[in-house]
Amino acid sequence: MVNQRIAEVLRNGQPDESVTIKGWVRTKRELKEFAFIEVNDGSFLANLQVILNPDLPDYETIMKQLNTGASVEVTGVLVPSPGKGQRIELKASSVKVYGEADPATYPLQKKRHSFEFLRTIGHLRSRTNTLSAVFRVRNACANAIHEFFQERGFLWIHSPIITASDCEGAGELFTVTNLNFKDLPKTEQQEVDFSQDFFGRRAYLTVSGQLQAEVMAMAFCDVYTFGPTFRAENSNTSRHLAEFWMVEPEMAFCDLHGDMDLAEEFLKYLFKSVLDKCPEDMDFFNQRIDNTVLATAENIINNQFERISYTDAIALLEKADRKFEFPVEWGLDLQSEHERYLAEELFKKPVIVTDYPVGIKAFYMRLNDNEKTVAAMDVLAPKIGEIIGGSQREERLDILQQRIESQGINPEELGWYLDLRRYGTVPHAGFGLGFERLVQFMTGMGNIRDVIPFPRTPLSVEF
Ligand code: 4AD
Ligand code: MG
Repeated sequence: MVNQRIAEVLRNGQPDESVTIKGWVRTKRELKEFAFIEVNDGSFLANLQVILNPDLPDYETIMKQLNTGASVEVTGVLVPSPGKGQRIELKASSVKVYGEADPATYPLQKKRHSFEFLRTIGHLRSRTNTLSAVFRVRNACANAIHEFFQERGFLWIHSPIITASDCEGAGELFTVTNLNFKDLPKTEQQEVDFSQDFFGRRAYLTVSGQLQAEVMAMAFCDVYTFGPTFRAENSNTSRHLAEFWMVEPEMAFCDLHGDMDLAEEFLKYLFKSVLDKCPEDMDFFNQRIDNTVLATAENIINNQFERISYTDAIALLEKADRKFEFPVEWGLDLQSEHERYLAEELFKKPVIVTDYPVGIKAFYMRLNDNEKTVAAMDVLAPKIGEIIGGSQREERLDILQQRIESQGINPEELGWYLDLRRYGTVPHAGFGLGFERLVQFMTGMGNIRDVIPFPRTPLSVEF
């Protein structure tokens, strides 16, 4: 007899097999002659139905304890299920209750709860069907990310979480400090004196591992990072988090075309893997959350992404037969309504927009020969908007120095980054995929707060 996960029992269990399962009670039904409980251990969307006969030891006591939320261990024999919707069920020969859950106060009851309500009980919500399906898909996707890069010989590198540089130059950095707030050291100019701080200078939480990934790409050619990133962006939207995970490949000897090819191949691979690993969960999302989830996955896997320049995108937006809230004009950044119009309405598939105006993109992007645009690319997804942002990097020392200075960044801070162009520079490119936006895109979940176990957003940090 072995301890088994419920996924394994439901998929492969055979009649007459003895099993022991452990998990949490989802529902209880008491009939005259016997009772049913449904148990879930997080391994599978469906519950395992357990039949309890009154001849079980301590039947009365156990039945009082087995309410929704209680933790149990059940040993018994598998029998074919006469009921609809399941192949097999478990006839209990012994039941152990680990912990009860008082039905008068346990917040998760059998009815459907809103996602807003579930966010107020973030420590319990993973025990619901939807959230547990999300986190299984998230896990499968994270694993597929490593498989994808490892199969292609990319080195997984670990970029730092504490950093001294602002990769994106957008001023969205969280400061990391252990200065005494009751007695802040000040400089002569009455500014906070970070030279007396822990690191002897001002430090931040990283907004991106890219600059460090570039360092490693200049030794290993193809590398990737996959870790948490932090942005003090005061955006209270369904697509922004203050702490989110980013996947960032960086490739030496690669240009923008190679970068786009990788991004497209990558997304196709991830959708395929998740359909393969989590078919029940994906069906569930399609039925319960968004009935375009499976069609979207097929669309991603089977169709080429559209590729257009920013300049062409602006022309298409100007021709659109609808009004946008934000202005459309060459030189202005695309807003998410524009991005969604292109991907969702016009092309009905992911669109890769390239060659943005130099004025709206980060200093590290490679200047095109026209000197007006940079070799940037954003992958825009239906419903989500920007899901990937990437570029070919400026590998020419003099131009990079000019870009750094023109953006008001102190070049001394980036001496190490410039060294990569001084010594053995090569064309290189990479991108960043917002991991939560991807999970949203895959599952159809409307709010990014519901695809990360512990969301951090403006005015909200729990646990
Ligand atoms: O476009 P971004 O800012 O690109 C970079 O950080 C580059 N350094 C990446 C690189 O080239 N290595 O961010 C990349 C992606 C976005 O496309 C988006 O999907 C996600 O990160 N993202 C966020 N996701 C959730 N919440 C936020 N506040 C996000 N900001 C960006
Ligand atoms: Mg971006």
